[in-house]
Amino acid sequence: MTTKININGGIETDPKISVFDHGFLFGDSVYEVVSTRNGKPVFLDRHLIRLNNSAKGLSLKIPYDNERFHREVDRTLDAAGNDESYIRIVVTRGVGDIDIDPSSCHNPNVLIYVTETHNYPPENYRDGIDIALVSIKRNPKEALNPGIKTGNYLNNVLAKMEANKLGAKDALMLSPSGFLTECTTSNIFLVQGERIMTPSLDSGILPGITREIVLQLAKENGFTAEEGLWPAEILEKVDELFITGTLRKIMPVTRLDSRQIGNGKPGPLTCKMMRLYEAVLQSLD
Ligand code: PDD
Repeated sequence: MTTKININGGIETDPKISVFDHGFLFGDSVYEVVSTRNGKPVFLDRHLIRLNNSAKGLSLKIPYDNERFHREVDRTLDAAGNDESYIRIVVTRGVGDIDIDPSSCHNPNVLIYVTETHNYPPENYRDGIDIALVSIKRNPKEALNPGIKTGNYLNNVLAKMEANKLGAKDALMLSPSGFLTECTTSNIFLVQGERIMTPSLDSGILPGITREIVLQLAKENGFTAEEGLWPAEILEKVDELFITGTLRKIMPVTRLDSRQIGNGKPGPLTCKMMRLYEAVLQSLD
């Protein structure tokens, strides 16, 4: 496995970053995770739009334009030479005083990690996974808006630890007002018959790129795809569940809190969406 890290344009194997960087001290940073297909980044422009929006949300000035990001990502992929890679782009507030005030940070650090791709076991797709509805709530929009992909993921780390304790593969979080939000690194979709539902952006979630594509595919293929505020009780009446994300793509969920969903196998609509999403990826070849 080859890992290369591009730090402000220099490519290294194990670069060092200052302990005074506010990304380290306060989680004051933004990031994106991008996958590759045939060695090329997938949906990089969409990720860069979200990265820039996240930075705006933190009033963090990113020193690269998109062209520079493309160039640096390509250089780092070439240096790593993996068949397929996991790409993580991180922009930190930079070095400053040991003080919560970011005014002393003048030079954001830009890191592009490239490492071998993370593949989920095939049985996760064949049989589905189990997730747990955890007690940890997703950050409210009015606090640290989950729509901003910051390097402060402690909310999700705590939820993941709770899921681990419960023996589940991931955690589903409610908003403080009791509506479904998302899992720790993925969005969630619910299916009732031919009806597809997913928490609206207003629920306090990350606007997932995979989620957006799934919503578009659903509409193009004649399904009703509704975005809304869904109370937890709706989970008792779903026929299928699936989660979406850059790395997981579309992954069926067949158990929730150890209770079987539908007949305990990935449902027909989930499988259809998985095929449609795969076709979108193939169309990039
Ligand atoms: N996470 N929700 C959260 C909280 C996420 O962190 C992610 C992505 C998603 C799905 O978004 P997308 O479809 O754009 O990948 C939803 C990445 C994979 C991560 O942090 O590892």
